[in-house]
Amino acid sequence: MKNFEFHNPTKIVFGADTVAKLSTLVPHDARVLILYGGASAEKTGTLAEVRAALALGQRSVQEFGGIEPNPSYETLMRAVAQVRSEKVDFLLAVGGGSVIDGTKFVAAAALYDGEPWEIAERGGANVQRALPFGTVLTLPATGSEMNSGGVVTKKATHAKLSFRNPLLYPQFSVLDPSKTFTLPATQVANGLVDAFVHTTEQYLTYPVQAMVQDRFAEGLLQTLVEIAPQAVASPDDYATRANLMWTATLALNGLIGAGVPQDWATHMIGHELTALYDIDHARTLALVLPALLDVQREQKRGKLLQYGERVWNITEGSDDERIDTAIARTRAFFEGLGIPTRLSAYQLGQEAVEAVLKQLKAHGMTSLGEHRDIDLARSRRILEAAL
Ligand code: NZQ
Ligand code: ZN
Repeated sequence: MKNFEFHNPTKIVFGADTVAKLSTLVPHDARVLILYGGASAEKTGTLAEVRAALALGQRSVQEFGGIEPNPSYETLMRAVAQVRSEKVDFLLAVGGGSVIDGTKFVAAAALYDGEPWEIAERGGANVQRALPFGTVLTLPATGSEMNSGGVVTKKATHAKLSFRNPLLYPQFSVLDPSKTFTLPATQVANGLVDAFVHTTEQYLTYPVQAMVQDRFAEGLLQTLVEIAPQAVASPDDYATRANLMWTATLALNGLIGAGVPQDWATHMIGHELTALYDIDHARTLALVLPALLDVQREQKRGKLLQYGERVWNITEGSDDERIDTAIARTRAFFEGLGIPTRLSAYQLGQEAVEAVLKQLKAHGMTSLGEHRDIDLARSRRILEAAL
């Protein structure tokens, strides 16, 4: 196991009817800005519950709506202007990963001296202060509710960049599984895939005898596979949604990633596909991961065999046959959720491969993966294997 430091300060308030607890979670004298996405938070009644909980106390409460999926710098800078002019001192995100990531960016940008896009360009390393914020999660997928990272897109240049800083952990996150009942099936499927790939990014690398991290990761993967059909088919099955929500949070709150090598190449290549073609985040991961596992099979051999045996119960055949089966099962899991694993499903071909490679180069994504050996030539092989 590698050396590590682990500190996650986010308080989780989990369960049914927990939105009302905002009345004590948000400081009583705060100048609060509620940030949300499009129409869903209003339509589902979650926003009304949030407003009611915040109405108690001496707070001043304002709102900023319209944060889009894959939140844009352009939109977020309007929220920054509101925060500055209204002297807001506490942010509350109500939504999925996009709203939470956007809120993290606003928290840092509002107090940043200089051009805030530099925060994305420097991956968050230059954040020295941030406003405190909490979240109410409505979409289990990204883990943003209990981590310090975010992803923001500059529409003008199609640049989708991630940032991370210890100042950007939410103070608290309210996780009420019943708030996910209104999700369209496509978003539930996306959430399952995103959480699955967050786990593989930290697990499917090379063995370092990190026994409990491995078993945790395998448990998360097996749970996702087990609950997937019910999670999609029965929107108001509380127990299933509760398991999905907590699994997705645990998949990216630092726990399974402590002391182990991490990959993240699937995410970095996927971000370029979203920035160029507006494909949902999770759907880009389903395109890249099976192809990447195949191209990186030598580097990942030990873990691929372990994954096949422990997650998919594959015990027969030669090592290469078992790896083939493990990759095929992964692909079938995504496809079974209605999520394509081939670029051709989006009418994308060789020209898309060239365009993604150009973006990867422009963003310095030229040595990805746990061995930093995924250069542009290797990314090309991965993308071509996904055609
Ligand atoms: O905009 P509204 O109307 O609210 O609708 C949203 C949105 O259209 C809808 N939705 C959310 N909760 C709902 C709901 N509809 C009905 N009922 C509800 N309860 O769902 C749509 C998608 O929302 P979004 O927040 O975009 O999805 P997700 O949570 O998958 O977030 C994706 C973003 O997170 C980033 C991605 O890159 C992408 O930008 N990621 C953030 C990470 C992190 N911070 O650690 C890691 C991830 O790998 C990922 O990169
Ligand atoms: Zn993700």
